Order: sequence, then structure tokens, then C-alpha cells
Amino acid sequence: MFLKDYLKIFSGSGNAELAGAVCKYLGIPPGGAKIERFADGEKVIRVEDDVRGRDCFVMQSTCRPVDENLVELLIYLDCLRRASASRITAVVPYFGYARQDRKDEGRVPITAKLVANLITNAGADRVLAIDLHAAQVQGFFDIPVDHLSGELVLSKYFRDKKISNLTVVSPDVGNMKIASRYADRLGGELAIVNKKRVSGSEAIAQELIGDVKGRNIVMCDDIIATAGTICSAARLVKERGAEDIYIGATHGVFAGQALERLKKAPIDEIVVTDTIPLTPAAQKCGDIKVLTVSSMLDEAIKRIHRNESVSNLFTDY
Ligand code: R5P
Repeated sequence: MFLKDYLKIFSGSGNAELAGAVCKYLGIPPGGAKIERFADGEKVIRVEDDVRGRDCFVMQSTCRPVDENLVELLIYLDCLRRASASRITAVVPYFGYARQDRKDEGRVPITAKLVANLITNAGADRVLAIDLHAAQVQGFFDIPVDHLSGELVLSKYFRDKKISNLTVVSPDVGNMKIASRYADRLGGELAIVNKKRVSGSEAIAQELIGDVKGRNIVMCDDIIATAGTICSAARLVKERGAEDIYIGATHGVFAGQALERLKKAPIDEIVVTDTIPLTPAAQKCGDIKVLTVSSMLDEAIKRIHRNESVSNLFTDY
């Protein structure tokens, strides 16, 4: 059977635009489905295409409204499983709850694991995700996970800018490996900020390992949520004599005071990807550049569909 007859892409409400862009790349129409609500607020999904024996992909970022988008994804998976799809891949460009990945104090849940269980039990045979916050979150799923990174798209953007005297800065120790890959891709030096998290929305950049004096900075992170991490790190490197500061992050959540903080921070450019649609407030502020991950997802979906290697994507892309 031809790819277009056998492959089906369905989109949740979390990022319909991205799903549309991926379908365009693939040259197939989005799968037909109706997402409606009963009067009491419950959601109901009706898949309108015949999916029996088809290779189905459901694309849904579990971004805000997080729980609603998550439940919608679960309903979609259940729906496709009961409609006899031959294989179902949950494409989760942004996996909400990923940061709740450990029990670092008493009486707290590991919600990332709970969500992984829910997705698996609802009917996913595979998962395709982008920057899961920590690579080991893949292990929370007992099904195959293809884990992509926004780094491919972001580092290409910064490489094309040909930034001179470049130092790549990791805004915390946890992100060091990714920052080091960026430095390799961009050909810059590496510096690391030691961050102390004071609360869910407050982070303090305490110390800097590496020299940033007179250097242009690319600071990379997987996620900008309240922007506490990135703004505090940007202030520290500026105090230590950095010149231009560019920020690259895969997921632009922009929650809480993020936009106000970013406006006040010594940052020259902020670049994120479209794993999450920009909030209207973030769109309005007009200073945030968005790069698309659609062609990367298109390539990954084609490879999964054809049972080809997805890890090669990191070198081929
Ligand atoms: C931390 O481990 C992550 O990589 C991000 O640096 C962090 O989650 C960003 O959160 P916020 O923007 O709220 O500081």
C-alpha cells in the first residue's frame, strides 16, 4: 500500500497548526475526526476515517490546558485502538509533567511515570517525543520511544547566524550535556552556571564555571517556563562581561511572570520552537522567534512508518 493510503495523522487540540504543517510535508490530509463536548463538559472524539489496519499517529502536546490536552490524547488513543488501527504512535512534541520525574522529598508523586503509564495503557504502541526534560524519562515507558531534540533545529539557526567569539552556556548543571553538544555543533566554548532552585518559580544563578568576558553567548535550555532559570543566568553572565546573549529553548511555555522577566533581562534574542503554540501574550510581545520542528517530525514519522532508523536522523538532518 502507498504511504498515503496506509499512514494516518490525527491531531489533538494541543497543536493543530504543527500537525497541519507535518501533514503538508507528508503530502497527506489530516485524519478526519470530530472533537466535541457533551453538555456536562466531557469530551468525545469520533474518528471519521477508516483506520482498520492503518499506521496511525496522534499528535498532541500536553501543554496548557495540560490536563485537558492529556485526557484528549488518552481518549484519542483509546478510540484508535478500538477502531482496530494496526499501530498507534503518540507524537508528543511537548510532554507536560516531564519535570515531575523523581521523588526528591517525602509524599510526592512521580507524575511523569504516571502519565507514561496512562499513555501506554490507553493504547499507544510507540511514542515520538521531543526533549523530554531528562533522557531517562524514556525509561518510564515500557514501549519504544523515539526521542528527538529541538537542538537540531535551534543549533542550525544559530550556526547560520555565524556568531563570532561564541561561548555556549548551560543555565544549570542538568543541561550540561545538551550544552556541550551545542558547543560541538556551533564550534564554540562551553560555560556552565550552577543554579539553585528556591521554589517552583524562583531560581538563582550562583556561580559560573568558564570564561564569558567579551564573548557572545548562546544559552540553551530544554524549556522556558517561568524564565527564572534563564533570566538569572543571563544576568550573571552579563555581570561577568558577556556581550550579546542569545537564548535557544525547545519548549516555550512562558508561564507566570516569564514575559515580564524576559523583558527586563539582558537578553538580545529569544528563540523557541513550535512544540507548544505561543500564548497570545507571548505573541503580542513580538520579541520571541519561533522555529518549526515540523520537517524534523515529518522525517521521523516517515522513518518510523517505513521501519527505518530514527537515530540516524541526528546525523542526517
Ligand atoms: C531545569 O531543569 C530545566 O532544564 C529548565 O531550566 C527549567 O525547568 C526552566 O524553568 P523556569 O523557566 O521556570 O526557570
